Amino acid sequence: MFDVRCGIVGCGVVAHNKYIPAVKRYGILEAVCDIREVRARRTAEVWGARSYFTDLIDMLEKADLDVVFILTGMDMHADHVIEAARMGKHILVQKPLATSLDKLREVIETVERAKVKVLVEPSVHLNPIYSRALNLLGDIGSPYWFMAGFGRHPPSWGEHTFFSRGGGGPLFDLGVYEVSLLTFLLGPAMRVTAMGRISISELDLIDDEYLNHHLPESVSKNVWEIIASAPRTRRIKVEVEDNIMVLMEMVRGTVGVVISNYVTPREFSRPSRAEIYGSNGFIDIPVHSSRNPVISGAVKTRDGVKPISVDGASLGLTEHNGWFSWDYYEASVKHLLECIVEDREPLPNIYWGAHVSEILIKSIESIRSGRSMDITLRF
Ligand SMILES: NC(=O)c1ccc[n+]([C@@H]2O[C@H](COP(=O)([O-])OP(=O)(O)OC[C@H]3O[C@@H](n4cnc5c(N)ncnc54)[C@H](O)[C@@H]3O)[C@@H](O)[C@H]2O)c1
Repeated sequence: MFDVRCGIVGCGVVAHNKYIPAVKRYGILEAVCDIREVRARRTAEVWGARSYFTDLIDMLEKADLDVVFILTGMDMHADHVIEAARMGKHILVQKPLATSLDKLREVIETVERAKVKVLVEPSVHLNPIYSRALNLLGDIGSPYWFMAGFGRHPPSWGEHTFFSRGGGGPLFDLGVYEVSLLTFLLGPAMRVTAMGRISISELDLIDDEYLNHHLPESVSKNVWEIIASAPRTRRIKVEVEDNIMVLMEMVRGTVGVVISNYVTPREFSRPSRAEIYGSNGFIDIPVHSSRNPVISGAVKTRDGVKPISVDGASLGLTEHNGWFSWDYYEASVKHLLECIVEDREPLPNIYWGAHVSEILIKSIESIRSGRSMDITLRF
């Protein structure tokens, strides 16, 4: 437990499911903020925050905060980081850091000037599965190509968060995990070319009113159970490409594809994985799986082919209810609060988060312009 006063902006699904419980475990939940007044108030009541707000600037001015957790829609992250940094607050921001290049530049300049600590999710650097994959990469020789991706059904909530043209869609939401891992393992990207389309143009979502009242039940109930049993009464139009493929060329020469979509039926979801093939073998890494992750693969030896199989127990993951898992949200909260108390820089740093965002933003630009795009930021 750290003596760090925390504020949450965006009291939606991930706040209730992951960050608020972790903040309660490791820090002090001082204030919460959501533009939906009833959601902010109910969240404060059930989770025991001292105050609640409906405007971030109001919270930054009035609540006594050391750190702000930015859990709003993807196209709002950059503005909220800028506002929090200007007020001298440390920051955890959910992915992506920004959804436009202008905002990305402004975020970096503001954070550099403010000298605050910023952790950009997902915190791949803290993940024991990815660290082991980095070690195994040496065994597969020169990494020539990769194939990564996650195909799933669309979320049933968050019209603006997931389906708005300015910053929604599966690439910012899901592809970010594979892109983050690939840059962690293979170094920066130098070029992207992407294709995408809207394959499912209308969807029925859970009404906001329903979530305002039922999400705070997460204090004693699993969020996914609340969502699974909710009626879907609100028809929306999907504004952003929901079916995307990105070709990436890395600075060090590896080429590959990242697939991200919201159009794969639940029954056939493709789990989030990254396969990397090298001159001497391959590894297959679970990217965003929650239960019993196993790194698999094979390498050539003098006697033939030796399989690779590293399970949750040998990765040192925590066992819970009979399965091993890694909770990146909890690890990030603990790490950031530790860094604030010990005055250390958190991992990953903002330059890595900015590089990942540039890849995502330029992939969307590539879809809409039909051109390949160079990636210029480095970490
Ligand atoms: N849901 C998940 O499991 C999950 C997992 C990983 C990452 N994320 C990321 O977390 C972020 C939030 O996702 P979510 O599923 O919680 O979405 P959500 O739509 O449930 O929550 C977003 C919340 O932000 C609030 N909000 C919007 N604009 C605001 C503003 N200007 N000021 C204050 N509050 C505002 C909304 O009212 C809503 O309550 C997204 O970036 C998403 O990609 C979500």
